[in-house]
Amino acid sequence: MFLKKSPIIMAGLPASDVNAYLAGVTGPPPNEASTEVCSRSCGGHLVPHYINEFWTAGQRKASSIHEISYRACFKPQLPRFFIDIVTKTGDTVYDPFSGRGTTVIEAGLCGRNIIANDANPLSEIMTRPRFFPPSIAAVEERLKKIPCDGEAGALDLSMFYHPETQKEITGLRVYLLRKRERGTDDAIDRWIAMVATNRLTGHSSGFFSVYTLPPNQAVSQESQTRINRRRKQVPEYRNTHRLIIKKTKSLLRTLTGPNVKALNRAAERAQFLTRDARDTPDIADETVQLTVTSPPFLDIVQYREDNWLRCWFNGLESTTIGTTITMSRTVEEWAAVMRDVFFELYRVTAPGGWVAFEVGEIRKGTLRLEEYIVPLGISAGFSCKAVMINSQAFTKTSHIWGVDNMGCGTNTNRIIVLKKDR
Ligand SMILES: C[S@@+](CC[C@H](N)C(=O)[O-])C[C@H]1O[C@@H](n2cnc3c(N)ncnc32)[C@H](O)[C@@H]1O
Repeated sequence: MFLKKSPIIMAGLPASDVNAYLAGVTGPPPNEASTEVCSRSCGGHLVPHYINEFWTAGQRKASSIHEISYRACFKPQLPRFFIDIVTKTGDTVYDPFSGRGTTVIEAGLCGRNIIANDANPLSEIMTRPRFFPPSIAAVEERLKKIPCDGEAGALDLSMFYHPETQKEITGLRVYLLRKRERGTDDAIDRWIAMVATNRLTGHSSGFFSVYTLPPNQAVSQESQTRINRRRKQVPEYRNTHRLIIKKTKSLLRTLTGPNVKALNRAAERAQFLTRDARDTPDIADETVQLTVTSPPFLDIVQYREDNWLRCWFNGLESTTIGTTITMSRTVEEWAAVMRDVFFELYRVTAPGGWVAFEVGEIRKGTLRLEEYIVPLGISAGFSCKAVMINSQAFTKTSHIWGVDNMGCGTNTNRIIVLKKDR
């Protein structure tokens, strides 16, 4: 077993043990590579770097409840690694850039308390309902009551949907928005809204739309018209209720009774916030034991453009979303935002608490964001314990600094590990 798990790990490791733990991990078979450790300067600070394949999807199966598409999401194994080694049951785990909620859902499954924040209100719409998974029968019953004959409305969606599919979508949308306005929506309605939001567009027959980009990247009406022309396609009828039930079954397929109880319990005390991560006054000082997060990266992800259809379905203004989401054009602009995020993280982190900050591979590894993040974390008051490079398809040291060897077929996470000393 390459992930060593001892009782002391489940109780939360002290800092020196975390370093020893990272150094002692053995990669998965067949290579079973030991962790490479080296000290390297990061923005003027000497920091130990640990390189290995620290987890694999195969050896650490994630729950099906995570399987929601979201741009630039990380795998559940990433937060799970840190939840296991530095927190214990009842601790609070936070993600200031929560996205589809990978960190908080994994933390909820592990019996931790959770706080999720994201400037995009769609994040809560996607995350919260999965803390209250309904039965398949309840979803089936509810769908029977929802009218399938909505009016087309002013927005032309004919390039995405067959006219009958569009009637079903607008019927569902009106039903959900009305219930929300009246405050009569319940966990089943919110679950259906979450699933439908994820089924709106995609590139297979499991989605409501004709073939388009993957579900987290909605193209404009004009681009879709061009795609249809190029592919000589017209939208065919899709049975939206059947697809919602199919996706519900898929999301629930590995969920156990104890998993549901753990999620429900976490939700009782959970905080779901829609704020700029730099300013989260709803979170009390020194209450978070672990933050696991990945920030918005430079300007490569267009959250507003990608989400316009999802916003329409949920009655949200996509133009307002664009104003609160950080989309920095230069690394200096990005670092200025992250600087303030770190001051806020320092305020909310409990003494002895941790931050695992994932920066991914940017511009094919030529831009090492840890060079910026390490000094920012330190100037906010944290000490930097490690830069951890999790490389699937592990390659040796000559490759890790990333210029061209980590390109194809690899999936690398670069994680800055910080601690608020007591
Ligand atoms: C890389 S994604 C996080 C993905 C997440 N780790 C997951 O697994 O789904 C970054 C997120 O940051 C959010 N975001 C961008 N600017 C923000 C800001 N200033 N404050 C809070 N959230 C922000 C975006 O809406 C996006 O959901």
